[in-house]
Amino acid sequence: MMQIRKAVFPVGGLGTRFLPATKAIPKEMLPVVDKPLIQYAVEEAYAAGIREMVFVTGRNKRAIEDHFDTAYELEAELEAAGKHALLDLVNSIKPDDMDCVYVRQPKALGLGHAVLCAERLVGDEPFAVLLADDLMLGRDQSRGGPTVLQQMVQAYASHPGTILAVQDVPREDTRRYGVVDVKGVSAPVAEVFAMVEKPRPEVAPSTLAVAGRYILTPAVFERIRQQPRGAGGEIQLTDGIASLIGSERVYAFRYDGRRYDCGSKEGFLEATIDLALANPELSASVRAHMVKALA
Ligand code: G1P
Repeated sequence: MMQIRKAVFPVGGLGTRFLPATKAIPKEMLPVVDKPLIQYAVEEAYAAGIREMVFVTGRNKRAIEDHFDTAYELEAELEAAGKHALLDLVNSIKPDDMDCVYVRQPKALGLGHAVLCAERLVGDEPFAVLLADDLMLGRDQSRGGPTVLQQMVQAYASHPGTILAVQDVPREDTRRYGVVDVKGVSAPVAEVFAMVEKPRPEVAPSTLAVAGRYILTPAVFERIRQQPRGAGGEIQLTDGIASLIGSERVYAFRYDGRRYDCGSKEGFLEATIDLALANPELSASVRAHMVKALA
């Protein structure tokens, strides 16, 4: 079994749901409390032992590259001012043993197409995909417990194959997700025998929805290449994975933790409130403000 060494971050999307905020900055750079969404996802991958981060970018995404690069002037000024704690904070964004590589997705043709753009950088080995819009928190992560991707890498050790993070959603929401049909529903790891992208509630095979975390095998690239345009006229990752079922193992993994859909305003605000309340420096004042605001 091969170790998961690389993570792919598709960050080429336009972020129209957050206009005007995302006119000039990538949606992945929107901060939850004080950290951009993309950094939460990169830290999650790093905690899972991954050291090579592959970003599939597009126009207008320079801020992401700058975020994971040295900021010479800032660092020199913090150093000169003796602000060592802040300097450490800035330096910790990209640890020395982490590599960041970038590839452009020339056209927004869908998530499957974005993953395909990373093929040459990933090569012939299993890899992770993290959608930064989904901010995932492992249940005990703040107390040193595993992140969601770490849980998945552990599951992969006993179930080598494709692993999809899944959660139950209300039936009326199936049209927002990839939805799987599984055997053995109660176990945390279950084999997937069908998968469909954004089904209408009436035809959804279940209410188990895929969250934005995947462990994929390199066979998926050829499968994606063979897919016609799917839901929404896009080249779908879901369709590529679905076509693997039967020739390779595909598993659904019920993660232990919480997902915030930061691609929606509601989810973004929920993440902001929860993480502010969990932040020792902010918790008391935020709580007091909320009591006042709701009075
Ligand atoms: C994508 C995937 C979908 C998955 C979702 C998770 O959809 O296509 O299968 O359930 O991410 O967030 P998107 O949110 O990009 O429309």
